[in-house]
This record gives sequence, C-alpha cells and structure tokens, in this order.
Amino acid sequence: MIKIAPSILSADFSRLGEDIESVSAAEFIHIDVMDGCFVPNISIGIPVVKSIRKVTAQIFDVHLMIVEPQKYVKQFCMAGADIVTVHIEASSEESIISALKIIRECGKKAGLSVKPGTPAKDLIPFLDYVDMILVMTVEPGFGGQKFMADMLPKIREIKQLTSKPIEVDGGVDFETGKLCIEAGAEILVAGSFVFKSENRNETINKLRCV
Ligand code: DX5
Ligand code: ZN
Repeated sequence: MIKIAPSILSADFSRLGEDIESVSAAEFIHIDVMDGCFVPNISIGIPVVKSIRKVTAQIFDVHLMIVEPQKYVKQFCMAGADIVTVHIEASSEESIISALKIIRECGKKAGLSVKPGTPAKDLIPFLDYVDMILVMTVEPGFGGQKFMADMLPKIREIKQLTSKPIEVDGGVDFETGKLCIEAGAEILVAGSFVFKSENRNETINKLRCV
C-alpha cells in the first residue's frame, strides 16, 4: 500500500500542533532536520520532535540532512522518531553504517537517502543495514522545488537492487507522485502540495490513489 508522508517543513511553525492534526489521514509525518552545513538551510531539531510527539501517534519519519549523523541519531530516536533517515553523502561509509546500526539498536527503522547526484549503485554496501531508501527528487534544502523527472530511472534501478521500501522526496504532486509509484516508490513525501491545498486530508487520500 502507498503511504503518504506530509513534510512539516511547509507547515506554519507558529501552529505546528494544529497543522499536524490537519494531516491526520497520512500514515507518516515527515520531519526535515537541516544543519546549515550539509544543506544551505537550517530548520528544526530534537526539542521539536520531542514536543510534537505528544500531539500524534502517526509514524515520525525523520529526515536528517546533517553532517556526521552518527553523533545525533540516538537523540532523535529517544525524542520519538520511528524512522530515522541519514544521507549517504553525510559522512564516511564506516560512520554511516555506524549511524544505521545505532538506529536499529534503538529499536527504530533505519533509512538511507541519496541526493540527486548520487548513483543507485552507491547504496550497495549499505543495503544490509537499512529498512528504507529515500530518493531525493530535488536537491535537499528547501520545500517547493520542481520535481526532477530524471530521478525516475534511479528509482527503477534501486527497485532492482533491493526489496526494501523506497520513499521519494521533493516536488511530489498528483502527476509526479503517480510517476514515482509507477517507477517503484511506496512512500511519497509531499510538503507544499499537501500544506497549500484547501483540504489537506482529501489531498492525502487522493495522492495515495493516483
Ligand atoms: C527538501 C526536504 C523535503 C521538502 C519537500 O530538502 O527534504 O522534505 O520539504 O517539499 P516539497 O514537497 O514542497 O517539495
Ligand atoms: Zn525530506
């Protein structure tokens, strides 16, 4: 079944609890953590994850766009994350494997993400340590960017490499979401498309069935 993960990067942070309640039809809540170093933007961190954990039982899908994620993954798990995704480009192979191991030791699901420029084959050494692959369909850092259709062959390639679920992130709407599902994605992250829509839950339910 297709799962939808609204990205709260497009929410109104002055009323974050209510905005999360407004996407109750979604299976996941996608939380973008940016450090101003791995990506040229800064967003939210551990205390916010901890606070919003109180307002919903939905699965917290934490996307870490930070360098040296192995230093912080445990704290995100403790704060209430259910899935913690790190970037393959964020540290050495050894440190990324260590981050993935820590996430699993905490009893959580470990995700691994690739930026648009990173080829599918780079995932191979990590596949035994991951529960989900996150394919970026925009350059990470900002919401509201245009979907990169040239990422569709990469989704297909990853689908050949592993049976682990594939999530896509960036520029997802009804049209691009459908293309991603056809290519093999099972989880769609959608930020601006969901939060800017008039009826968010209706948009989520439609996106699941494109
Ligand atoms: C970008 C983030 C995305 C972003 C998606 O770096 O990882 O999760 O919020 O936003 P949209 O759906 O608006 O492209
Ligand atoms: Zn994201």
